Amino acid sequence: MAQKWIRAALLAAFGAVVLAVSVVPGVTAQDKKAEKIPSIKQIMLAAHKGDDTLITKVKAAVKDGKWEDAQKAAKTLSENGVALGKNKPKRGETSSWETLTKAYAESTKAVADATEKKDADATTKALDTIGDSCKACHQAHRGKGK
Ligand code: HEC
Repeated sequence: MAQKWIRAALLAAFGAVVLAVSVVPGVTAQDKKAEKIPSIKQIMLAAHKGDDTLITKVKAAVKDGKWEDAQKAAKTLSENGVALGKNKPKRGETSSWETLTKAYAESTKAVADATEKKDADATTKALDTIGDSCKACHQAHRGKGK
């Protein structure tokens, strides 16, 4: 019995290694075009511009208790959050961009995690964190004067 388990565990570990080896180089070796990273502008428009954004979708869905809708919008928000950091801003220091986009990736992921847990308070908190982050990043990295 014990041996069976050990064999299963070894097989699982081996499987994980094979997966890691086959998946990871695929992602890193692929060029950016193949990966299709949305632009900064696309990410900003989807999440933040107008009345029908990923943020308002999450908020409305949580309010209505439609967690699946909230999770779906939050997942896109969080994927875009990672993609933002893969872009290069037209303006500002690289180190600042790295810090600010990392924070954006973390707070958008926090929204996704909170909706996964169906935690309305945590979702609101994470959304507020994103709401507080716009100005600093725009001042440092968005085109002049805004
Ligand atoms: C980590 C950096 C960062 C954060 C955080 C951020 N933005 Fe942006 N945003 C940018 C940059 C850079 C641009 C300029 C994009 C360009 O023109 O290429 C931009 C552009 C925009 C635009 C203009 C899009 C267009 O071209 O029409 C809007 C609207 C916008 N952001 C809204 C927001 C709001 C609202 C928040 C906060 C809830 C926010 N952004 C947070 C970096 C950020």
